[in-house]
Amino acid sequence: MSIDQVRAYFGFTKMPFGKSLPPSALYRSQGHQEAVARIAFLVGEAAIGVVTGEVGSGKTVAARAAVAELEPSRHSVVYLPNPAVGARGLYAELVSRLGAEPRFHKAALIAQATSLLAAECSERGRHPVVLVDEAHLLDSAQLEELRLLTSSEMDSADQFALVLIGQPLLRARLRLGSFAALEQRLALRYVVPPMSPEETAGYVSHHAKLALLTELPGKHHRVAGISCGRVPCHGRQGEPGPGLGVAGAPAGWGAQRDW
Ligand SMILES: Nc1ncnc2c1ncn2[C@@H]1O[C@H](COP(=O)(O)OP(=O)(O)O)[C@@H](O)[C@H]1O
Ligand SMILES: [Mg+2]
Repeated sequence: MSIDQVRAYFGFTKMPFGKSLPPSALYRSQGHQEAVARIAFLVGEAAIGVVTGEVGSGKTVAARAAVAELEPSRHSVVYLPNPAVGARGLYAELVSRLGAEPRFHKAALIAQATSLLAAECSERGRHPVVLVDEAHLLDSAQLEELRLLTSSEMDSADQFALVLIGQPLLRARLRLGSFAALEQRLALRYVVPPMSPEETAGYVSHHAKLALLTELPGKHHRVAGISCGRVPCHGRQGEPGPGLGVAGAPAGWGAQRDW
């Protein structure tokens, strides 16, 4: 039996369990809602936090949903999907996602990252939000760099939110004595739980129902606090483009992104 026959049999307009659901179409399990709320808390407090969970538990989609809620004119979101780029690479990515050319020498690069983050706040009135996904892949040097970045002498008003998202190994690593300084600075640690049997049944029927629709739920209304809107991306001088707003993610990021 071909996929087309399966689709025709069930009356699906597309196959269920598609990966590119807009935030409006996500299934609002308890774990999902809590993860979104906690990421929003970290953003509001400009604090550092860790969200962990097993592969496929919905960490990345929760981060996407939380970011879709943010007011683009008030936040600069930098999403780093793959931290396996070394300590210098982390800073270089941060700098380029904030719209600048990374400096060559590491010391200059660190200063550049710090001042760009501060400038977002002081000059553009936007609060930086840095999300590091797959953060269990951060090596010791990178974790130390993040600690330094978050404890640099930025004005308290210029602090940024840092959300480390990763597999359970991340929490275990942070508990090691060598990362105590970073661990102590965490405002929040959240473990995305597995869905309950009832939620699992709801999740399956949710995806099946979406597959019957010709169009996914509205793009510009709110469903119980989850914004269904796209996050428009704003270039550095306000021109449209893949710059700030959601740096490091292509336009349309708030809606049909595959992360
Ligand atoms: N709340 C949800 N509603 C709908 N689909 C979800 C939800 N959470 C996860 N998924 C599905 O599961 C897949 C894996 O989720 P993802 O966030 O990438 O997991 P993780 O980042 O924890 O490994 C997503 O591509 C999405 O299709
Ligand atoms: Mg993920």
